[in-house]
Amino acid sequence: MTTERADGGGTAEVLAGGLANAGAVFRRGDVVDRPAPPTARALHAHLRELAERGFTGAPAPVRLAGDGREQLTFVPGEVALPPFPAWVMTDDALASVGRLLRRLHDTAALIPVDRAADWPRELADPEGGTLLCHNDICPENVVFRSGRAAAFIDFDLAAPGRPLWDVAMTARYWVPVLDPATAAVHYPTAPDPFPRLRVLADAYGLSPEDRAALPALVEQATAAGRAFVTARLAAGDPVYTAAHAKLGGWQRWDRLQSWQTANRERFVAALLTEMP
Ligand SMILES: Nc1ncnc2c1ncn2[C@@H]1O[C@H](COP(=O)(O)OP(=O)(O)O)[C@@H](O)[C@H]1O
Ligand SMILES: [Mg+2]
Repeated sequence: MTTERADGGGTAEVLAGGLANAGAVFRRGDVVDRPAPPTARALHAHLRELAERGFTGAPAPVRLAGDGREQLTFVPGEVALPPFPAWVMTDDALASVGRLLRRLHDTAALIPVDRAADWPRELADPEGGTLLCHNDICPENVVFRSGRAAAFIDFDLAAPGRPLWDVAMTARYWVPVLDPATAAVHYPTAPDPFPRLRVLADAYGLSPEDRAALPALVEQATAAGRAFVTARLAAGDPVYTAAHAKLGGWQRWDRLQSWQTANRERFVAALLTEMP
């Protein structure tokens, strides 16, 4: 995380984290310099509108360079990177992610989506929607301060969708809604996913209707994740290809998806029993 390289602008710290832009995200003081996604112009406008409406949980845009790179404010705090530390799987961390996601959505709901932008379909809600979802709230994209989620970063895969789709995507990573064998590969501890999905739903404040729908949507979101990996592999992406092989290939996805479907009703029951 602290590899340094000298470039024209002085010494920059390489920020480790995600796979998509591995080795291409730099920090220089208060500014992060990274490859700009194709939707950067619309995203910067959205981030500015979030800030204007009082949402403090996202970086602010600084500059969009013509060279295909963008600059955003560096958000101070702690980001969990693999191998994940134990705190990443605490109920407090999960609940704080749920509360921050609700705040993001409540603010994003006030901002009209730029329909002219070519939002990526890769992890987007297949049904579309009227609110700009983040779609990729994995541990590497959340900054914590004092043990609580303080900001979401890396909006590259943001696209219009239903808020519940974003909750489902978040659940995949943060509950995590994974069979025990898969969870053990990614996380230091594999906590019981049934009460954990409930923690997320309670923190977000999901309605009974949304609770009933969430487990099936997590299955759909997992299928979208699989399609995302399939496309990266088909394109010959070396980083995703190596990660896919290391994590257990398609067998792992088959096992995970069967497990999710087999446990759908159990998740629904955990979400709806004795509603507060
Ligand atoms: N604005 C930011 N504030 C703080 N840390 C950041 C910021 N942007 C990126 N990082 C750090 O850099 C890592 C990689 O950046 P990210 O933009 O998520 O790359 P990728 O697109 O490859 O996922 C993140 O996981 C985080 O640790
Ligand atoms: Mg990232």
